[in-house]
Amino acid sequence: MKKSTVIGIDLGTSTTEAAVFRDGRPEILLTMDHKAIIPSVVGLDEGGNWIVGERAKAQMLLAPDRTAMEVKRLIGKGKEITLGKQNYSPVDLSSRILEYVRTYAGEYLGETIERAVISVPAYFDDIQRHETLLAGTRAGLQVERILNEPTAAALSYGLEHMEEESHILVYDLGGGTFDVTLLEMFEGILEVKASSGDNELGGKDFDRKLIDYLVRRFRTLHGIDLEESLQAMVRIRDAAEECKMALSTSDSYRIVLPLIARKGDKPLALDETITVGQFEEMTRDLIERTHAPIEVVLQDGGILASEIDRVILVGGSTRMPMVEKDISSFLGITPSRAVNPDLAVAEGAAIQAGMIQGIIDPEEGLVMTDVNPYTLGVQSFDGYTVNNMTVIIPRNVTIPVERTEIFTTHHDYQTEADIRVYQGESALVTSNHFLGEFRISGIPSRRAGKENIKVSFAYDVNGILDVKAVIVSTGKQASIQIDLQDTGSLPLDEEEIDLSGWKDVKGSSAYRAVIRRVERMMKKIGSPMDGEMDILSEGLDALKRAIILEEWDEAKELEENLIDLVSFLEGIDT
Ligand SMILES: Nc1ncnc2c1ncn2[C@@H]1O[C@H](COP(=O)(O)OP(=O)(O)OP(=O)(O)O)[C@@H](O)[C@H]1O
Ligand SMILES: [Mg+2]
Repeated sequence: MKKSTVIGIDLGTSTTEAAVFRDGRPEILLTMDHKAIIPSVVGLDEGGNWIVGERAKAQMLLAPDRTAMEVKRLIGKGKEITLGKQNYSPVDLSSRILEYVRTYAGEYLGETIERAVISVPAYFDDIQRHETLLAGTRAGLQVERILNEPTAAALSYGLEHMEEESHILVYDLGGGTFDVTLLEMFEGILEVKASSGDNELGGKDFDRKLIDYLVRRFRTLHGIDLEESLQAMVRIRDAAEECKMALSTSDSYRIVLPLIARKGDKPLALDETITVGQFEEMTRDLIERTHAPIEVVLQDGGILASEIDRVILVGGSTRMPMVEKDISSFLGITPSRAVNPDLAVAEGAAIQAGMIQGIIDPEEGLVMTDVNPYTLGVQSFDGYTVNNMTVIIPRNVTIPVERTEIFTTHHDYQTEADIRVYQGESALVTSNHFLGEFRISGIPSRRAGKENIKVSFAYDVNGILDVKAVIVSTGKQASIQIDLQDTGSLPLDEEEIDLSGWKDVKGSSAYRAVIRRVERMMKKIGSPMDGEMDILSEGLDALKRAIILEEWDEAKELEENLIDLVSFLEGIDT
């Protein structure tokens, strides 16, 4: 049996791209409108239907309250986004974008797409990775791999330059994140040595500096605060980005926004000219924030700046001339433009997808290893303070990796222990990022220090962590796969119920007819991007879940809702 196609997706803060591996190379997938790059924007139209990409971006000015952008910046942060009257989690909204990709990829390739490799910033933490995975699952994709973006970019470079032996630094400055990764390439083997970055640094921050400047100037000139008008801010944001992009190729740019505000009944325009020099001056602190992560990867990778053979630029923001200037003066090497900064990550994700499908022979082709970007550990007690971070897996070790530490009980007759897991570089857990906790109980009651607990961390190729604790004397175990914190999303195990099992549940036959009817209607509607389709498919899943969990009251209610909806749809259909 031919295994189904795996596509690679670069789900970016500003833009999203997808690719497939065919005929020995990555091929970028085009939308129905022949676009390779789609805005990562999602919204609800007037009728309450989901829209994604260009269409969503186009309604930004008219309906900013029904449109969301830069969703990726909120993923894993436990925040919600309001569209219209409802709140959505970043996972919900990201899954809409991925669903759109799945649809156009399917159209382009002429088959149903069910599997994907999705890239994330190397510097994404465990929760951000988990949520990206969940968004993929919700979009109906089996996520075969979560791949680090700079690693993907390096794969795309590596495929074309396999014969080289070199130290490569991938510098990825996108819309919302900065990633830097050091790799070593040797006879087609690409080894990631170290990754670092800043999840809160990207092109958007450069826009923000311009926006703040324009708002400030307008306030000085006219005494009016433009920030009070959402419409004005949407226009200024667009103009600022346009200005920034123009300054990548010209020395100055004039922004003119007529009718941006009124004073009495006099209409006011915003009219400002910005020079490259001014722009570079106002964003100097941003570009300087790239230095610390670069130093970290050089140090962790154990090389000097002078030993870097090649710097590869990825991400739309590297088109700003100041990036090249800064790298040249900071590292003493001129970066190369060997890959397409917009497409390299998607291409690399497709190469990884090709490896997963077995269509790239590791004997002849590219092999790759990656690292974990953060230190992982647990809270411990050293006799003085309970806030110590005991490192279990140091940052920038090659993954997959499994490491174990032995802990002893720290007070007499202790029968349980809490394992609190953290990610981060501080010696104190309070400054690190809490990932999750669990309790192991049933420790034999003895004097302090007499019982041992073995804690193991396994960090897989997706950058996802498994933690296990074992009481050495009894062999009793407890474990977690790091839980999503309270982000308003479904817990993983609820997602992971195999819904196809509903038929085997005693008492399910009463629901067979309605399920059949809903499925028939869904087939008729066809387009997975349709609003009704969503409600139907969510309702159907909820019903199957209720049947499997034998929550009959719930099932009854869901059935009634579904019957109402289907009858309504059948009505308008005829
Ligand atoms: N010519 C240009 N000059 C300056 N900046 C540009 C230019 N073209 C695009 N950009 C900026 O690049 C950013 C988008 O880059 P890209 O599409 O690589 O990011 P992304 O992949 O969506 O984000 P991330 O990787 O951070 O999640 C935007 O901030 C955009 O303004
Ligand atoms: Mg990107």
